[in-house]
Amino acid sequence: MANAESIIACLSSPKLLESYREELPLIDHLLQTAELLWEDCGDPELTVAGLLHDLAWTDGSSETEHAADGSAIARSLGFSDRVCQLIGLHVTAKRYLVRIDPRYWQRLSSESKASLVEQGGALTLGELKEFEASAYFGDAIRLRLADDMAKDPTRITKGLECFYPIITKALLT
Ligand SMILES: [Fe+2]
Repeated sequence: MANAESIIACLSSPKLLESYREELPLIDHLLQTAELLWEDCGDPELTVAGLLHDLAWTDGSSETEHAADGSAIARSLGFSDRVCQLIGLHVTAKRYLVRIDPRYWQRLSSESKASLVEQGGALTLGELKEFEASAYFGDAIRLRLADDMAKDPTRITKGLECFYPIITKALLT
């Protein structure tokens, strides 16, 4: 099982300074997502899911696989099933919101609109019902909305070290 130091070391890799499709470095996107979630709910597991949700990009994962791959990475680091499931659902939540709210699609970044096609577009009715029945439905939507907002190249975030106690708490859950 990993500890907070090793996870912070992993997130400090130079690979996360690359932009990965959006107009800001991946680490800034992950820090903004985590910070928004922490400010919104103070939930260590949800915050850590936000901090790690796109980590699989650094391993060369694809649009279609990065949520599942990120979930597997979180599991290998020793995080709870809730953290892993939330990471795994962050693309499903986008496809859900596209299905239920036409205004949501308009608010997506151009990169996120483009990747939606590769990710399968809006959920089918069957997929929608299955997602709504998930124990993680509400939190997955929270994570997704923070993910969408966390793309501001001008937003200054707190440093990675601020998440040390939050990562430690999530690992103990
Ligand atoms: Fe993201």
